[in-house]
Parts: sequence; structure tokens; C-alpha cells
Amino acid sequence: MRDILVAGNWKMNGDTARNSELLAGILAGAPTSDRVKLLVCPPFPYLADVARQIAGSPLQLGAQTVSEHPAGAFTGEVSVAMLRDIGCSHVLVGHSERRSLYGESSSDVAAKFAAAIDGGLRPVLCVGETLAERNAGQTEQVVDQQLNAVLERVGIAAFARAIVAYEPVWAIGTGLTATPQQAQDVHRHIRSVLAAHDADIAEAILILYGGSVKGDNAAGLFSMPDIDGGLIGGASLKAGDFLAIADAAASL
Ligand code: PGA
Repeated sequence: MRDILVAGNWKMNGDTARNSELLAGILAGAPTSDRVKLLVCPPFPYLADVARQIAGSPLQLGAQTVSEHPAGAFTGEVSVAMLRDIGCSHVLVGHSERRSLYGESSSDVAAKFAAAIDGGLRPVLCVGETLAERNAGQTEQVVDQQLNAVLERVGIAAFARAIVAYEPVWAIGTGLTATPQQAQDVHRHIRSVLAAHDADIAEAILILYGGSVKGDNAAGLFSMPDIDGGLIGGASLKAGDFLAIADAAASL
């Protein structure tokens, strides 16, 4: 049986005092379950601080994006090696906000994914369609294009060290959540695309759902056969909200 991963994407929120209160709350209330894993992805300036605060705890640390380059004259960028150096194990790549607000193409995302794999960070590859694409019946086509850009670049073997997050853009930060069945259909499709390359890797990979996951809808989503946890934005910023989702996962 696959683990359930509950990952918090803090986006551009928090400060030193609020982060430490949030982490103290999460650490105090995290469910003890072998199957449920927790990950937090704070903004860059706080990663090292958060790493110190969660040292020795089961909480894992990820960044929200990363450079595709190893080092050098790339002002403002942060490398995989730097993230590893300060204690990150994971990194989000291709979040829809990076794609839509910062112009990251699927080939940029594939390069970041490749850099993460090469440098020993576990990428969480975010894919998902807009409302217009869903209404036009293009959900699978969009997700395929986003996945295939990465598959073509790194090959299926790299997915043994990766996570996929299906995040319909229309559900992010909107309060609109995909129904468990809508999400399950896309998750099953993603797993079948990967299975066409390697059945064992497809069976083992965690596929998270993201988009307005809350304590009261998490259990319904996570109980679907191909949904292995959530990537949580808004509800990851309050310990009680995040723990309600972690508890829902632990109750399954
Ligand atoms: P949300 O964000 O939970 O606030 O919808 C999810 C995400 O963007 O990862």
C-alpha cells in the first residue's frame, strides 16, 4: 500500500514568528501514523530556519521552485545543491502559478525536474488544466503534454524518485474542489500514462491532489484508489487546518 503524503505549499506567506508558531503547532499535533508523511514548503528565506526547527522530527522540507542550472551567473536563482545543503529533500516544479505568472514552459519545468533528480532532490511535478481547458474536454490532453515533456527529457526511470501532483488550476485557491471522482479519473489517467512506460514505477509513485483541499473534503479525496495525499495551499497556513487534513489521512 502506498504512503499518504500531506504537503503544505506556503507560497509567499509567513514570517519568522508566524512560521515558528505554525511549525510548533504542526509538530505538537502531527498524527503518529507510519503511512502518513508530512512535508512543508516554505519560501526560500525561511528554509534554513525551518530545517533547524524540524530537525529530528518526521516533518520533511521542500522548496517551491529551483533553478535548472547547477551554479553561476544566474542572479536571484537558487540551485538544487543549495537546497540540499540546507536540508531540503523535496522541491515543487511546475506549479501552475510558476507556469502562468512567471512564464515557465513545460520544457523549463522538465529542465528543473531533471536538475532535481540529478542533484538528489525529489521533485513534485505539478500538472493540471484550466477551467477553459476542462470545459473544452482537453483535460487529459493538457496533462499528457505536461507529463510527456518531462518523460521525454528524463525517461521513466527518474519517476521512481519523483512525485506527481494533479492540481486543476480552477480549483487552486478558489474554494472549488474537484469531486473525488473527477480527481480520481485524472489520477488514474496519469498512472496509466506512466504505466505504459513502466508498470512498477506507475504503481509505486505517489500522485497527490491539490486545489482547495480542506479538513472536511480530504478524507473523500484521499480514499480514492489513485489519490495518495494532497498538496495544500491555503489550509497549510494554520496548524489546525493542516492537521485536520493530516488526521483525515491518518483515519483511512
Ligand atoms: P490551495 O492551493 O489549497 O490554496 O487551493 C493549492 C496549491 O496551489 O498547491
